[in-house]
Amino acid sequence: MNRTTCLGIAGLALAGCMVGDPNPVEVGPSSIEAPVIPADVFAPLNEPGAAHLELCDNDGTHPLFPDDADVITRQFCQDLVPGGAIPQVHGLADLQALLGLSFVDPSGGNGVGGNPGFAILGHSSALTARKVTTITPTAFVFTPPAADGKKQPGYVFMAFDPGEQFVEVASHDPVADEVNLYVVLFDQACTTAPGGCTPTDLLTPALTRDWTNVRVYESETALNNTLADCRQCHATHDDQPQILRMQENTPPFTHWFSPDTEGGRALLADFHAAHGTAEDYGPIPAALVDKSDPALMATMIAQAGFATQPNAFDSAAIEAEVKASASAQPVNNVPRGDSPTWRAAYDAAMAGQFIAAPYHDVKITDPRKLATMSAAYRDWMSGARTSLPDIRDVFLDSGLVDMGFAPSPGADGKRLLVEMCQQCHNANLDPTITRDKFLVDRLDQMSREEKDLAIERLAPALTTRLRMPPTLFKSVTPEERQKMIDTLRQ
Ligand code: HEC
Ligand code: HEC
Repeated sequence: MNRTTCLGIAGLALAGCMVGDPNPVEVGPSSIEAPVIPADVFAPLNEPGAAHLELCDNDGTHPLFPDDADVITRQFCQDLVPGGAIPQVHGLADLQALLGLSFVDPSGGNGVGGNPGFAILGHSSALTARKVTTITPTAFVFTPPAADGKKQPGYVFMAFDPGEQFVEVASHDPVADEVNLYVVLFDQACTTAPGGCTPTDLLTPALTRDWTNVRVYESETALNNTLADCRQCHATHDDQPQILRMQENTPPFTHWFSPDTEGGRALLADFHAAHGTAEDYGPIPAALVDKSDPALMATMIAQAGFATQPNAFDSAAIEAEVKASASAQPVNNVPRGDSPTWRAAYDAAMAGQFIAAPYHDVKITDPRKLATMSAAYRDWMSGARTSLPDIRDVFLDSGLVDMGFAPSPGADGKRLLVEMCQQCHNANLDPTITRDKFLVDRLDQMSREEKDLAIERLAPALTTRLRMPPTLFKSVTPEERQKMIDTLRQ
């Protein structure tokens, strides 16, 4: 995006403008939609009892089912085994134990001495990308790679995002030699409390405890036609098997926390400024956070057979170019950097060929918002305050376009549909789900009826899971919405 000056209307600051800044050069979209997960997002899913039967349905391919299935199925379907029972999961630690991902030595090492491997990511291009930040990063915990470099049958990965009442799991089926993807949903006391869940329930260690109603859904079910569809990113061609993802899988692993890289250290410093050094982070013991190791995760993903990623992010070239364009990077990310290598990956993603490319700079945060939210979190930890704001609201507004969360400025209606819809609505995805009746890459063949339905779903007043594009992924302005509607009217 070009940097233009801040054009506020008489005293009315536009989102993204730097109010009171003598050099207001960093402008974001004129309005920003909050990244909400609509309350009815999982309404299409089976109720818990039926979901259990679906998970534990033996299709005949596993002679010792469930004991020769992937670890999720094996553990959650133990009621099929004589004398067995469905495991009682009361929190994240129980789930880690079931998956064999417990830290047996909380002050030990990463992926050694019986500990699982782990890595922490401060800017994601996955399901909850618009909510993953340096102070609310995603924590990945996984089976450590084998010393002999061979694939380990039955390996497992878990992804933990603060703020969400679910955990994502990739679980290798040793018989079929395939990756199965699961979302593990849970409730907390606040789920049914008047007023619902607050940031203190969801964005603090409280999220990891006192779970109820734990239920498991696989990416082969109705989950496919919800916003939490895993396959749009893990199986971008429906006829190909599901893959593991890691776009930044080469050093210096731009958005990953690491003591071994300049950027990784800068991210760790921002994280600690909010969380201190004594707080366990999700599945990861406090004493281990600084040992986050993206190289270990990349090695494990390569062993599993997924070293080659679609539209890979060339971290070394991009970070060097960004630094050359803005010398205070990566520690200071305003002014923003620029990188031709990054631009090529971004353009390919925005043309609808790939999922969003990660941002060019190491930091995705607005320094002032980050300072405010970090102080709020510290005050909550010290007891100086009892409630929290949504501390994930720290994104640099002027970076939203380059993060892939907002369309390119000046795009026409057709281009907006490609940038904002095609990732989930293209002919390579599962043709059997209703969502696939709206194919942006086949717009010229689309019926009038389908276009009219899309116009309804673009209505600004919608607040349900039917609202398009889902703000969890994309933010558009009212003008951009109208341009897409005008194109669909033709
Ligand atoms: C919008 C794209 C997208 C969607 C949707 C998505 N993922 Fe991912 N997933 C990724 C990317 C990209 C990564 C790599 C880390 C990152 O960027 O956060 C990833 C990483 C993971 C990992 C860690 C192992 C690995 O592949 O690196 C797990 C586990 C995972 N996802 C599970 C799921 C599950 C389960 C779902 C569906 C409920 C899902 N994901 C939906 C893009 C996505
Ligand atoms: C992150 C994925 C995602 C993106 C991006 C997305 N959609 Fe959707 N879309 C869905 C899902 C999931 C459904 C199914 C919702 C339902 O009906 O329960 C859906 C359903 C639809 C349908 C209904 C199709 C039918 O015939 O049943 C239309 C029309 C639609 N989307 C239009 C759009 C438009 C227009 C955009 C871009 C402005 C867009 N979508 C962006 C995920 C997405």
